[in-house]
Amino acid sequence: MAKMLISTGRGGVGKSTFVALAVRHLPSPPLLIDADADQSLGQLLGVDLAAEEVRTISDVLYKLQGREGYAELGSMPLAAKIEYLLNLSCVYESPRFDLITLGVKWTRGCYCAPNSILQSVLPGLAKDYEYAIVDSPAGLEHVNRRVVRELDDVFVLIDPSAKALRNAQRLGELTRAVGVSYENLYLVGNFRFPAEAEERVAALDGATYLGRIERDEGVERFDWEGRSLLDLPADSPASRSVARILRKAGYATA
Ligand SMILES: Nc1ncnc2c1ncn2[C@@H]1O[C@H](COP(=O)(O)OP(=O)(O)OP(=O)(O)O)[C@@H](O)[C@H]1O
Ligand SMILES: [Mg+2]
Repeated sequence: MAKMLISTGRGGVGKSTFVALAVRHLPSPPLLIDADADQSLGQLLGVDLAAEEVRTISDVLYKLQGREGYAELGSMPLAAKIEYLLNLSCVYESPRFDLITLGVKWTRGCYCAPNSILQSVLPGLAKDYEYAIVDSPAGLEHVNRRVVRELDDVFVLIDPSAKALRNAQRLGELTRAVGVSYENLYLVGNFRFPAEAEERVAALDGATYLGRIERDEGVERFDWEGRSLLDLPADSPASRSVARILRKAGYATA
């Protein structure tokens, strides 16, 4: 089973960028799980999932529910159908990472179905990888989308705000309340996080502060131009920050 990581934090702190940059440094290609309805992770990595005809889990479940959905699978049990379809049409594969995307809500107001489906098939999907990384939607409460119940490392991206600190402190409590467990809770200062604030964060109980990500004009530009962050130069400040942060968390980096 893969080592399970999650990138989480408030809106716009740099969660998806952190995941995309981590891909550059992990020693083997990870399985990425985009749990955000806006599906931006593929874009940051230069992948057009629609053009590649890779479907989201929500799309597949939606079609499966419809009248003519996958009639060719006949009387196969539902769980087997789902596992088969996810493997067949929801995994984008490439040399540096594989990617699956949860997609938008498929029934009004509820993510439960795609979540719980993914939860049940993820162990099978992740078993062939050394690392699996979840890119979560904004807000810590989304840990309770509970795509994964047992996490190894939680990376909380924090900006310089009282709310970010409060959220980081609440996270342990929150994850326990929704039945998610983790080994390590790591705090990462985002690109707006000032050096002066580091001491305060380092002193928080129950979490380990790993350092901060440098502001990087190249990241902004690549994002704006729709270019893959994998193509940033090797000396990209943000990319180097992420490598340093991963090493501090005990990862061997490539
Ligand atoms: N190190 C950095 N330097 C400069 N800009 C950055 C850096 N990291 C992220 N950004 C920019 O900040 C913005 C938000 O980043 P990102 O999309 O990764 O955040 P997010 O937390 O995933 O957002 P959301 O909550 O919408 O999912 C993007 O425009 C991105 O280019
Ligand atoms: Mg994001």
